[in-house]
Amino acid sequence: MDIPKHVAIVMDGNGRWAKRRGRPRIFGHVRGSARVRSVVKEASRLGIQALTLYAFSTENWNRPESERKVLWKLLRKYLLRDIDELHRQNVKLRVIGQVDRLDHDVREVLTMATERLAHNTGLQLNFALSYGSRSELTDAARRFAVDCLAGRATPDSLNENVLDSYLWTGELGELSKVDLFIRTSGEQRVSNFLLWQAAYAEFVFLEVCWPEFEPKHLEAAVNEFSLRERRFGGLGKVTHV
Ligand code: FPP
Repeated sequence: MDIPKHVAIVMDGNGRWAKRRGRPRIFGHVRGSARVRSVVKEASRLGIQALTLYAFSTENWNRPESERKVLWKLLRKYLLRDIDELHRQNVKLRVIGQVDRLDHDVREVLTMATERLAHNTGLQLNFALSYGSRSELTDAARRFAVDCLAGRATPDSLNENVLDSYLWTGELGELSKVDLFIRTSGEQRVSNFLLWQAAYAEFVFLEVCWPEFEPKHLEAAVNEFSLRERRFGGLGKVTHV
């Protein structure tokens, strides 16, 4: 079976899932965060090499402070509770996004977790936090311009690989390219997530909301991926006369 090397997931529908059950939105986030553990484990089992989870977008800063606080608290709780297990599973952690916008206590836990897992060689788990592709591309353009002004680069030296290296996913190299892009909750949007990296991703949109997402859903999406013919703009396996 053709296993996607890099899977990206928009964990959507926490709020709607909770509302449908007459519960506050944050209940959906609590249940949603509890889904991360089994999905990470399943990604490793399936042989996926990188898993990027969209946990907080640049646009999510517009949510009420009370909801934002819960999301950050859940992230910290997850990392503190699961760090040993992630280490046992040989998972490596990386954060992509505007890390400097995060509160000190969140950054502290993220630093602890990334350092602890730094030498692992298994699944590359990426948390997209205060992440937006437009910010990422703007930031890359700004840093490239600064390097040009400082004489470290020239406009002519810019190509796709060089631009790749300026993105927050730069250190992932070839693995930064998303193969499979999953979004839960029935919405069919990209929402400013990995626009550059997902240029040739296969998209799978699932009706289940994130708090209902189980390992079997990831496996089904991977099966669906393996049935797709990826032509990357070429002619694929079809022979034309
Ligand atoms: C989208 O649902 C989900 C988010 C904005 C946050 C995702 C965060 C988590 C699952 C918890 C974070 C914890 C860890 C461990 C990564 P929504 O609130 O936009 O749902 P709606 O579209 O139904 O309102």
